[in-house]
Amino acid sequence: MLIIGGSGLVGSTLVSYAIPDYDLHVTTNKSELKQNNVAVTKVDLLKNREKIIDLITKLNPHVVVNTAAHASVDLCETDHASAELLHVDVTKDIAITCRKTGSKLIHFSTDFVFEGSSNKKYTETDIPKPVNYYGKTRLSAEKIVLNESENNVVLRPAVIYGWHEKSRFTNWIIESLRQNKVVDPHLDQYNTPTLVDDLCKAILQIIKLNKSGLYHATGKTCLSRYEFAQALADGFSLDKNFIKPVTSQEKKQLAPRPFRTCLDSSKLEREIEFEFSDIKTGVSYIFNKSKER
Ligand SMILES: NC(=O)c1ccc[n+]([C@@H]2O[C@H](COP(=O)([O-])OP(=O)(O)OC[C@H]3O[C@@H](n4cnc5c(N)ncnc54)[C@H](OP(=O)(O)O)[C@@H]3O)[C@@H](O)[C@H]2O)c1
Repeated sequence: MLIIGGSGLVGSTLVSYAIPDYDLHVTTNKSELKQNNVAVTKVDLLKNREKIIDLITKLNPHVVVNTAAHASVDLCETDHASAELLHVDVTKDIAITCRKTGSKLIHFSTDFVFEGSSNKKYTETDIPKPVNYYGKTRLSAEKIVLNESENNVVLRPAVIYGWHEKSRFTNWIIESLRQNKVVDPHLDQYNTPTLVDDLCKAILQIIKLNKSGLYHATGKTCLSRYEFAQALADGFSLDKNFIKPVTSQEKKQLAPRPFRTCLDSSKLEREIEFEFSDIKTGVSYIFNKSKER
């Protein structure tokens, strides 16, 4: 298995889950991989596109998991060229090379492909309509990956979290509340946060059962960032009085955000006989992990 972006939240967690059963090779860019005994190639996909083509060709992997993407939605709004390059052009290189080597490609997209104006959870048959450049480029990449081979998989997770240094939202809330600092999460931005461990277990099942196509891959609970922060305060016994909700009007973000992009992952759950955690179970899981160290 080749994991492109093995130093990220999903990539490094997947390494831990896959290591007993797979011969692993990962790529990193700016961060180091914490795990030992895994082959690593350093590559900046924005600067050296050929290197990933050569690596896939040389390794001829059974499966390629591509997690590499810009983490900042706002950066994509100001730097269209970079978003287009990493999300669309590089993905195309990877997908074409995987077709040539016969490797199954598992690629990540996002809930931000949707407009976010529906009160219902979106399913895979709902029509995407991104409201920002980040979402637009991720949607273009989905089409490339799915068109390149019918063996490929596109997963749409949302607000991925875990007990991990790269779990951005949960770390912000937990670390701030531990120091009695005020946090101001949005009251009007709803998603279905995804426990990274669930996502990695689902990926291994997808490979084992040789599933293909487009899947929503998120947790069960649709909630606002404010409610997520409250769930974290409850789970970690922290003071909720330091959570001061704001609206998108009050706290402006550079790129427009969709308001409610909750996803329905029952198609994937059914096909791989797996259940994603609800928010209470997920928070309790990371709280227990936090006690291990
Ligand atoms: N996290 C979320 O809340 C969330 C929500 C929806 C969708 N997703 C999608 O799910 C996937 C995995 O997310 P994640 O949270 O694991 O992301 P992450 O922690 O930001 O990791 C991204 C990985 O991509 C690598 N990368 C970034 N830019 C690169 C470049 N120019 N060249 C080479 N490698 C590069 C990073 O390498 P270095 O760290 O070594 O620089 C890292 O290993 C991504 O596609 C993401 O967009 C994430």
